[in-house]
This record gives sequence, C-alpha cells and structure tokens, in this order.
Amino acid sequence: MLPFLRADLANLKAYQPHPAIPEPYDQLDTNESPIDLPAEIKASLANHYQQALAANRYPDGGHTALKKAIADYVSESAIAATAENISIGNGSDELIRSLLIATAIGNGSILVASPTFSMYAILAQTLGIPVVDVGRQDDFCINLEKAQTVIDQQTIRAVFMVHPNSPTANPLTTAEIDWLRQLPNDVLVVIDEAYFEFSGHTLAADSLSRPNWVVLRTFSKAFRLAAHRVGYAIAQPELINALDKVRLPYNLPSFSQAAALTALTHRASLLANVDVTITERHTMSAWLNEQTMLSQWPSAANFIYCRLSDLGLSKLGMPQPEGLNHIFSSLRQQGTLIRYTGGGLRISLGTAEENQRTRTHLRQTMIK
Ligand SMILES: Cc1ncc(COP(=O)(O)O)c(C=O)c1O
Repeated sequence: MLPFLRADLANLKAYQPHPAIPEPYDQLDTNESPIDLPAEIKASLANHYQQALAANRYPDGGHTALKKAIADYVSESAIAATAENISIGNGSDELIRSLLIATAIGNGSILVASPTFSMYAILAQTLGIPVVDVGRQDDFCINLEKAQTVIDQQTIRAVFMVHPNSPTANPLTTAEIDWLRQLPNDVLVVIDEAYFEFSGHTLAADSLSRPNWVVLRTFSKAFRLAAHRVGYAIAQPELINALDKVRLPYNLPSFSQAAALTALTHRASLLANVDVTITERHTMSAWLNEQTMLSQWPSAANFIYCRLSDLGLSKLGMPQPEGLNHIFSSLRQQGTLIRYTGGGLRISLGTAEENQRTRTHLRQTMIK
C-alpha cells in the first residue's frame, strides 16, 4: 500500500465496469436500452458536431439550454419545474456522489435498503461515509419500524431509495412513500427514478414542494444515451445550488449536452419504444410463470428479478446460491449476459429476438 494513501482504500475494490463484450453476446446485464439511437438522429448529431460545436472551447458549464429543455420535459408530468430546479450530472452517478459530498462527509451516515443500487454504498465508502443498510423483507418492501429506529438513533443525513428499485423492480409502496414524507427536514430524501419512463410513477412533485427531497433521473435507460453519461436532479433551488457548488466546473462534455438535447427534441419517437419493452416484459413474465422453475417479482421497470422456485431447486438439485450461479454461468456460456446480484437474477429486457434467446438458454439450462 502506498504510504500516502488513505488506509481504508485498501478494503475497497475498483468498480468492475461492464466489460468490453465481443459480439455476439446479448447484453442483458445493465438495464440499458437494447436499441441504438436511430441513424437519422445520429446523423443530425454528427452534423451538429461538424457545423456548430467548437471542440477548442469548454462546454457550457451552466448547461443552460439543457436545463431548460429538461425542465420542460419534467413539467409534462404535470409539475411546473424551471431550469432553477435542475442540476445536470455526468450520469446520475455523479449526482449521487455530489449529494453524498454535500450532505454526509464528516457529518453523518446514509441509509440504504439492500438489495438496491450498489453505487450508493460504493460511492459513500470512497468518501469515508458510513452506510446503514436496513435490508428488505421477503416481498422487498422495507421494514419501516426498523428504518425509523435507525433514523431516531443515528445521525442519518440522506436516505437513498430507487423507485422502482433495482435490482428487485418493485416501486415504492404507499406506506413507504408516507414514511419518507414524514422524515424530518434534516434528513435528505433521495428518490432515484432511473426507470421512470418504464414505471410512469414519479415523486418529482415532492422534490419541488419539499426542501429535503431530490429526484434523480438519467438519459442512460429509456432515452438510449448510456454512452453519453447524462443524469439530472430535480429539487428546490437551494439544494440545486449546493449540488452545483460541489461538482466539477465542466462536468458534461458539449457533445453529451447536444446528445441529450437532441434526444429530448425527438422524445416522442424515442420513448415510443418503452411500450415495446413493456410488451416484452409481459411476454417474459408470462413465460416465467408457465415454466414455474424461477419465481419472479412484479416489475415496474425494464428488467425482471427472479430466484429459483421450490420446483427449480429440486430440479437443479442445488441450494439457491449455487443454483443461481449455475444459471448465470450457463447463460453466459450460451451467449446471454445477465446479473447475479442481491441473491437473485436480474434479467434486462432486450429486443424480442434477444428475449427469445434468453428463454431458449434458460430452458436448456433447466432441462440439463
Ligand atoms: C437505480 C440506478 N440509478 C442510477 C444509475 C446510473 O445511471 P447513470 O448512467 O445516469 O449514471 C443506474 C444504472 O444502472 C441505476 O440502476
């Protein structure tokens, strides 16, 4: 260990990003859109780069045009947001880190409920912020009494919730939302709506009316822009200003700003594909129900979470973790990448062809 490094870094591992995958793997492990941007939108972006983008100049560090366009998009869900309610990040990952910096470094802990998006805890650890994990019940809801005890007994600065949750795909329940709404003003409530376009549920109105709420969203999923790393936060101006204080000045390259603006201009056609994914989700879910070897949970997102059913366990003749690992590895060998996380399998919905191959590969695995 280098003598000048923080001792606690020795316990951390660098994030293992999605590996560069050789074709023809079906990449159903990161909840991206399976469909690239249409060629004409790429052409218009390429043209913008050629004609209007000065590569020698820094990007607009205030994200002026993009904030305005995002505020208009947010306002379509019947909430009047303005550019002052929006902060832009290099992916919502950057905003998560900014929120942690602004609330909890040297100032308290954060609360999460696993299984959930792993970056909250990973980023907190890199910043030396303690993480209190209250876990989830069998139905993946949160034990609210336990969570309230943590709030009462410890200095929690921020609570991180995904709506709908990843990897388990369930949206927050009314009881969970009510609990979040009664949290005191010295606890920040972070609602991560990375999958909003698939669920249609938003709590953005709360983030505009409550000083201690923030909603995070991303262009990496339904908008098909994962390569461009654009995320945004919706909150009252005071919190937005705090986020802008702690971020890097030119955090989003000009080309990514242009890509997000272009995607918003073409949102009607790009988001039409959400319905296709939801139809695929119904087909996959019906198939899983029929074959009965994997039990699944209802999904409000573009992925399905499952574990081995009793029948699946006896058919494979292995305990749950070994059985799931066997399915994960077997699918990988056959060319389908999924995630084995939180004690279950998370399968992103791909194109109709990819999903059909997933079913074939699952069938092969379970029959053997
Ligand atoms: C719940 C959740 N939040 C945030 C992200 C990251 O989004 P971004 O690509 O904008 O950093 C993901 C990505 O998988 C996610 O699942």
